Amino acid sequence: MKVLDLPTPALIADADIISDNMRQMAELLRGSSLKLRPHYKSHKCAALAHRQIASGAIGMTCAKLSEAEDLIFSGIDDVLLANQVTDPEKIARLAWLARLCRLTVCVDNAENAMALSRAAGYAGSTVHCLVEYDIGMKRCGLRTAEAYLDAAETVLRLPNLVYDGIQAYAGYASHTPSESVRESMTRENENRVAALRNALRKRGIGVRTISGGSTGTAAFKASGGVYTELQAGSYLFLDSTYAQLSLPFRNSLYVLSSVVSRNEDAVILDAGVKSLGADQDDPVLLDRQGRRIPGRCELNEEHLKLYDSPWKPALGEKALIIPGHCCSTVNLYDHLTLFHGDAVTERLEVSSRGKSQ
Ligand SMILES: Cc1ncc(COP(=O)(O)O)c(C=O)c1O
Repeated sequence: MKVLDLPTPALIADADIISDNMRQMAELLRGSSLKLRPHYKSHKCAALAHRQIASGAIGMTCAKLSEAEDLIFSGIDDVLLANQVTDPEKIARLAWLARLCRLTVCVDNAENAMALSRAAGYAGSTVHCLVEYDIGMKRCGLRTAEAYLDAAETVLRLPNLVYDGIQAYAGYASHTPSESVRESMTRENENRVAALRNALRKRGIGVRTISGGSTGTAAFKASGGVYTELQAGSYLFLDSTYAQLSLPFRNSLYVLSSVVSRNEDAVILDAGVKSLGADQDDPVLLDRQGRRIPGRCELNEEHLKLYDSPWKPALGEKALIIPGHCCSTVNLYDHLTLFHGDAVTERLEVSSRGKSQ
């Protein structure tokens, strides 16, 4: 079947470019001590997670317990849940899951660590912990080295928990357009994390893992020598926001959309915010030949209105839309269709679509 014949809107990705992005990431990390632990939230396809492991990733990162369950039941045996889990029922599930694989969770609170320790005791499991350090996200994590050292010592004292090291994620640096500013932000963050690691060592606390980083900071993290794990997710797909940076990855992900109406001032396509993540930059439209279609986009629930465009498509004409944000777009679809050239080659289940618990 030809990819342009799929019913629209359809989530599609170029299989060759996905493979090439995996190779580019392996190349970028070659010779560095940084290991890849890709973030599952970008694709939410267990099948792609297995391909990432086969191409050298040491395990997966995910954001939610329900994603961790999907990954583990699909056979991934090293999972980092890069968030805090505080609900008692979820803590019990997490402790039980930790019997099945190497499961790591983030912690930033002593009571939460105690609850995890008790639950792991009941389940007969060991839960690995990264204590989170807030390096500027202003969400989870401890804000001072002193508070961090106390929390790390609490985890170390508790039975059934293993203190593995530091979670420190600085997402605000990922999309900074200037490469030199992005690099200096990354270096500043690494210096703070290295100072914390040294303070931990002074107290006799070993730090096996320092985890974080993104597609936008991957190259700097690889040369920095501070982090041991990279949590990049978007590198497999990219999107119109990441495409503005000069990165070694290429866009592979599109929403295939059809022209459903035309009027004096706009071309109307069938992909709105229920088909395109609208939390970052505007989407970019390409015609069937892959040429950029100029114009200004406005998204409604089910429609994309393209204004001020010289494009004069026939009704039913298809466009390839590069989403503004790959991660929030993928979460809107049950399937991701892969293509090679103009032919459909595979249909993958977005197995954790909507798993936000
Ligand atoms: C904790 C964490 N790690 C890693 C990433 C991956 O970032 P990216 O998809 O930009 O590579 C994210 C993205 O939001 C994140 O929240």
